[in-house]
Amino acid sequence: MIRSQDALHAPYGGVVPELAARAHLQSLVPVIERALENAGTRWEQVDGVAVTRGPGLIGCLLVGVNLGQAIAWARKLPVIGVSHLAAHVFAALLEEPDLHPPVLGLVVSGGHSDLIRWHTDGSISVIGRTLDDAAGEAFDKGARILGLPFPGGPAIDALAAKGDPRAIRFPRPRAPGLDFSFSGVKTALLYEVRKRTSISEQERADLAASYQEAIVDALLQRVEGALFPSPARGGGSGWGPEPTVVIGGGVARNRRLREAARSRLGNTAHLVIPAPELCTDNAAMIGAAALIEWDRRGPDPAPFDADPALGFA
Ligand code: KG4
Ligand code: ZN
Repeated sequence: MIRSQDALHAPYGGVVPELAARAHLQSLVPVIERALENAGTRWEQVDGVAVTRGPGLIGCLLVGVNLGQAIAWARKLPVIGVSHLAAHVFAALLEEPDLHPPVLGLVVSGGHSDLIRWHTDGSISVIGRTLDDAAGEAFDKGARILGLPFPGGPAIDALAAKGDPRAIRFPRPRAPGLDFSFSGVKTALLYEVRKRTSISEQERADLAASYQEAIVDALLQRVEGALFPSPARGGGSGWGPEPTVVIGGGVARNRRLREAARSRLGNTAHLVIPAPELCTDNAAMIGAAALIEWDRRGPDPAPFDADPALGFA
């Protein structure tokens, strides 16, 4: 079960931080009660509490961190605060519990486009990041340019299915090394739209498909760059004979990304893209991250603070 706030924010064309925090306040207790009920689990069977410590909007994080510690305190349970970003990678464990590092991870969400290496010692380092917009932001802003509703990712995904991805050749980002940049392709889309006095439905679908293709291509180029080192791009080795690649975050729901990743990487890498409902923000992935972090460092001494700028650890 996932409770979404999309409808709440849609009229504003983006997430309104204060509304988001207030909606968290109203949703969390009923969601926890429903989740326990659906799982047929009683409070007595709960061994510990996992909560997102960051990154994200501080108002939302404070609601969660506060409630997590309050439950732990009231029920005398251990509590652990984990990274939302790392959890997008660890979501893969919900499908492949034996997954182990080294893993190359691509986290693509509304706020992040990160390429990471999950090392055999359990630590995570970021080997590529976006220099401007995140991939999800590129989808959301592109959708707005095309006159599509928020959130833009699913809207572009759906419309692109009816369009030709080769209709317009959008520029591929020229960020150096393993970093991403999406502002150029977004501006190119804006110019394509502006130079038309009217846009037919087919043209809109072609624009959506071509724009999506440029984003997907840019993402996979960097994954390939990280897997197969080249003097121009850097990239690393040491992934083993069949490198494991995990793609997670809301943008990993994108059907073209899933399909293109399978065809481009499927033969050379062990590719794990969790089921769509495990890619969008969800609490199961926070539980998966907690199991990994627990083995590494145990529970957190409460009280602890939320960290809106937290990285992968
Ligand atoms: O990980 P997530 O659920 O929340 C954050 O942590 O940000 O990611 C949300 C992002 C939004 O930008 C949304 O437009 C994008 O994921 N998204 C998609 C799709 N579904 C969600 N982007 C492309 N295609 C989709 N099907
Ligand atoms: Zn997320």
